[in-house]
Amino acid sequence: MTRVFAPGRVNLIGDHTDYTGGLVMPMAVDLGTTIHGARGGDVVRLTSDAATEEAEVPLRLDDPREVLPEWARYVAGVMSVMHPAEGFSGFVSTTLPVGAGLSSSAALEVAMALALGFEGAARDLALVCQKAEQQASGVPCGVMDQLASAAGVAGHALLIDCSTLEIEPVPLPADIDVVVMHSGEPRALASSEYAARRAACEAAEAIIGPLRSAGPDALAQIEDPTLQARARHVIHENARVRRFAGSLRAGDMEECGALMVESHLSLAKDFEVSTERLDQMVESLVTRPGVFGARLTGAGFGGCVVALAEPGALRDGWHVRPVDGARILEA
Ligand code: GLA
Repeated sequence: MTRVFAPGRVNLIGDHTDYTGGLVMPMAVDLGTTIHGARGGDVVRLTSDAATEEAEVPLRLDDPREVLPEWARYVAGVMSVMHPAEGFSGFVSTTLPVGAGLSSSAALEVAMALALGFEGAARDLALVCQKAEQQASGVPCGVMDQLASAAGVAGHALLIDCSTLEIEPVPLPADIDVVVMHSGEPRALASSEYAARRAACEAAEAIIGPLRSAGPDALAQIEDPTLQARARHVIHENARVRRFAGSLRAGDMEECGALMVESHLSLAKDFEVSTERLDQMVESLVTRPGVFGARLTGAGFGGCVVALAEPGALRDGWHVRPVDGARILEA
């Protein structure tokens, strides 16, 4: 029997920066996905406590995007990247809310790759699963979600440089609550708009070079106001991630909170991935006593906000702690 676990993630700061090799600061959370079963046969057959329909994916499959039920596409995505020699039969159980912005799909991919016998470093695991996600969903996502799930460090947020995939764990003070709240909005435009944002960043890079190394002065060379705004978000967001990491190390939670709010405003105004509901949630959260800051987290267009707060200041939402990344519980 094989039993593996992969956590979900929440991103504290640095959104829409990973796919241009920028900086992000997620953490793996104490909610995740377990797969239990045995390798063998020529299909992957899984039941799940989060879905009514079972997944049955043949080893030889064409397009993961055609697989049904939809959740099985992530399984198929992993299979089409890994080309496992044998199948798997088992059960998926998850404590993650599915499709809520805590990377339930990344957790499923990472757990699936381990269940199918992936051997290698956490970074390689993440790259396999990023490709799987792209094939399963058609969304040209970056590597942040899969890397946070694969390489989490208990008690730490991860400062990740997405150009080198270097990870610097930064301790999260023990007396800070990380709270994630769902907007209730499905991320309807997430795939088409996400691809459009990524294309805009690439168009900006064609004018001023890599956004990762560009300074704000370069922005004047971009004539198109929308492209300029997209690039402005990315350039300033990378700088905010660095400042956030420094403030977190120094235990300056007021500054961390202020940077989160700046990040949210930039995602809303310059990158245009927020919604009215997400804006209202952030506005109202930051007026609550004991809340240092809040922002939308992940791709946006609905989904979740994350807040940093004094212990007990917020009663609602998912209170999450940073945990170690994916692991094999039983080989
Ligand atoms: C999604 C993608 C990530 C990242 C975020 C935005 O979660 O999967 O790669 O781009 O959006 O920061």
